[in-house]
Amino acid sequence: MEQSEGVKGTSHESFVPSIFLQNFYSPQSAGFGQKDGLGPWKLSCLHRAFTEGDIRGDLLIDVGSGPSLYQVLSGCEVFSKVLLTDFLEVNRQELKSWLQGEGANFDWTPFIKYVCELEGRSPSEWTEKAARLREVVSDVLPIDVHRAQPMAPDALPSEGADCLVSCFCLESASPDVDTFTKALGNISKLLRPGGHLLLIGALQESYYLGGPEKIPVLPLNESQICTSLQEQGFTLIRLEVHTPPRDITDTDDISDGRGCFFVKAKKN
Ligand SMILES: C[S@@+](CC[C@H](N)C(=O)[O-])C[C@H]1O[C@@H](n2cnc3c(N)ncnc32)[C@H](O)[C@@H]1O
Repeated sequence: MEQSEGVKGTSHESFVPSIFLQNFYSPQSAGFGQKDGLGPWKLSCLHRAFTEGDIRGDLLIDVGSGPSLYQVLSGCEVFSKVLLTDFLEVNRQELKSWLQGEGANFDWTPFIKYVCELEGRSPSEWTEKAARLREVVSDVLPIDVHRAQPMAPDALPSEGADCLVSCFCLESASPDVDTFTKALGNISKLLRPGGHLLLIGALQESYYLGGPEKIPVLPLNESQICTSLQEQGFTLIRLEVHTPPRDITDTDDISDGRGCFFVKAKKN
């Protein structure tokens, strides 16, 4: 699944997992040391969403996981089955290698410890949380958000997943708002009616450094996101915005986004 159907300008051919992870998730870039850092903000949004009591079921799908795991650290405590997905084989391999505990993988420990703290557990319990994640992730599968059927038909039960998470995927895979909206409609088919969608993404971003080259991103604003959700049959529960500290907005070397959004929505 390395060819999208008829969508130009969404190339992730130059994506290099190790460069992406270093740029955005190394201890320095994840923002754990900063007041209002993005890493803690994302983890807190997801923790809150998954512990409010309305998100329930068996199956959680993370759409466009990339080589990243932070986005399912809260969900893995609620769901007994988690599917990770990505368009690129290199990303699926990186995830499989972490799940199998092979070699020198990227170190997600600071993220896991932070979520342990959010859950009221001691950070020293991080190994148990890592074991839980490895236990509940049942597969890492190909996905193409531009296909009417984004995943292989036999990959999930006919009723669909109970919850979808997707972070920084749709806007980086879509050249324009129409394509973004259509992709949202495509992934909605993976979700059962009444199921929840948690979206995290960049605001007003035109590129990110996911490898040696800039990868184009669709610059989005909050009202476009709300319109797309409504058009695709979602009811918005909450939209939150993170505005980076001033010193971060001044450095456009790894991306030029002007903030991030978090959405909790429900499929009608
Ligand atoms: C910015 S990365 C985000 C990765 C991860 N979700 C995160 O938050 O770190 C964007 C991801 O979208 C994936 N992607 C690009 N085109 C896609 C498509 N057509 N369908 C699904 N995923 C796609 C890329 O392979 C990449 O892993």
